[in-house]
Amino acid sequence: MSSQVVVGTQWGDEGKGKIVDVLAENADMVVRFQGGDNAGHTVIVNGKKHVLHLLPSGVLHEDGLCIIGPGVVCNPFVLLEEMSQLEKSGLSTQHIIVSDRAHILMPYHCYQDELEEAAASNKIGTTKKGIGPCYSDKYARHGIRFHELKDFEHFKKRVAECLEFKNKLFVNVYNAKPMDEKKIIEDFEKIYSKIVPMIKETTSIVNDAIDEGKTVLFEGAQACMLDINYGTYPYVTSSSPTSAGVTEGAGIAPSKIDKVVGVVKAYSTRVGEGPFVTELEDEQGQWIRDHGHEFGATTGRPRRCGWLDLVVVKHANMLNGLTDIVLTKIDVLTGLDTIKVCVGYDIDGKVVDHVPSDQAEVGRARPVYKEFPGWKEDITKIEKKEDLPKECLDYIEFIEQYTKVPVSLISVGPDRVNNIYVNEIK
Ligand code: GDP
Ligand code: IMO
Ligand code: MG
Repeated sequence: MSSQVVVGTQWGDEGKGKIVDVLAENADMVVRFQGGDNAGHTVIVNGKKHVLHLLPSGVLHEDGLCIIGPGVVCNPFVLLEEMSQLEKSGLSTQHIIVSDRAHILMPYHCYQDELEEAAASNKIGTTKKGIGPCYSDKYARHGIRFHELKDFEHFKKRVAECLEFKNKLFVNVYNAKPMDEKKIIEDFEKIYSKIVPMIKETTSIVNDAIDEGKTVLFEGAQACMLDINYGTYPYVTSSSPTSAGVTEGAGIAPSKIDKVVGVVKAYSTRVGEGPFVTELEDEQGQWIRDHGHEFGATTGRPRRCGWLDLVVVKHANMLNGLTDIVLTKIDVLTGLDTIKVCVGYDIDGKVVDHVPSDQAEVGRARPVYKEFPGWKEDITKIEKKEDLPKECLDYIEFIEQYTKVPVSLISVGPDRVNNIYVNEIK
């Protein structure tokens, strides 16, 4: 019985969704605490694939509560669409609730994201889901929160006042068409009665559960290198996907977190723009992309691929305080003669083992690699760590030595059952 946080340690898409689904089996509730439908979390159960964007990946366990927490920016249309997909698969959605403090991601946020990206000379490569504009409005203190939807007349006034300002921006700055207020209101009228019963004060629900000794799982979206403060700014998302983000985004005290599980993919990927020290823009990178099926779950974009960067994982450990590592997709590396791991950055002739804050420096960094021999055996059916090939064990042991964090679970395939349990995470 504990509160556990699952976070990404690289640039996202480490396999957090799969791991949350596995850990959710023993959880009483699963809580998303940041981000929005920019996330794409894939869960495969009995060969059936579910891609979740807004809903916590624990949603497939129908006996636990699923919470969209206060720190999430939630597009209610996407939420209902995702629920409807699950219902079509015969799954229940009765256990999903949304924080009254969460911000409503409005249609004008998506439009603004598109216009900003199109106009920017320095593009971020966002998912165009409206995340940046919604968080900007939140911090500028003119966002609309879910509790405001309960009084529809009040909500309509808020939309009118926000849209008046946004339309000035769209027309006068971006030289684009204004949005139609009537259409936005009509669309909300259609979903209002479905959404309102889901709106709850979730912070006391989560805190009461922890105080009662229940197991609460907090699911991070994105990852440390996309963190608004500690990632490769400005090529980041607009929230804090770290364990610190849980306290803000779910409303629990830091002392209430027991376990911080960092998901580490056995190599690196990145979607969107920004520096990527170990990127392989050659056949080797293409090999990893093909073998790892590295295409974005949200946008379908090919993911940029490279070797594992332990400088990045060390940075994630420093910021998150990892108690456990879950290593994913190590099966993808099977078949390689040599596997490289980045253990330092050579910046202008000086080797460092931390991530610089200045992106120009990260851009100039050359990876310092340690090389490992690969293995050829299929490892996807292995259930015990000791049955892994020696070369694979050496690779895992090096990750533990470098990060000083135990690898407690090894994921060797995309399905819920493809796991090697090493240390119990509870
Ligand atoms: P997330 O955003 O961190 O949840 O990760 P994504 O779901 O976007 O991307 C991870 C992809 O790898 C998904 O397609 C998963 O089904 C798949 N996956 C997860 N773990 C493993 C693993 O251990 N081995 C393999 N081969 N695939 C995995
Ligand atoms: P999961 O949870 C990978 C990236 C985008 C872009 C930057 C900013 O599946 O790991 P945004 O739309 O958030 O303003 O885009 O962040 N990005 C992700 N990359 N996985 C994700 O989520 C991501 N969510 C956002 O590609 O570079
Ligand atoms: Mg993803």
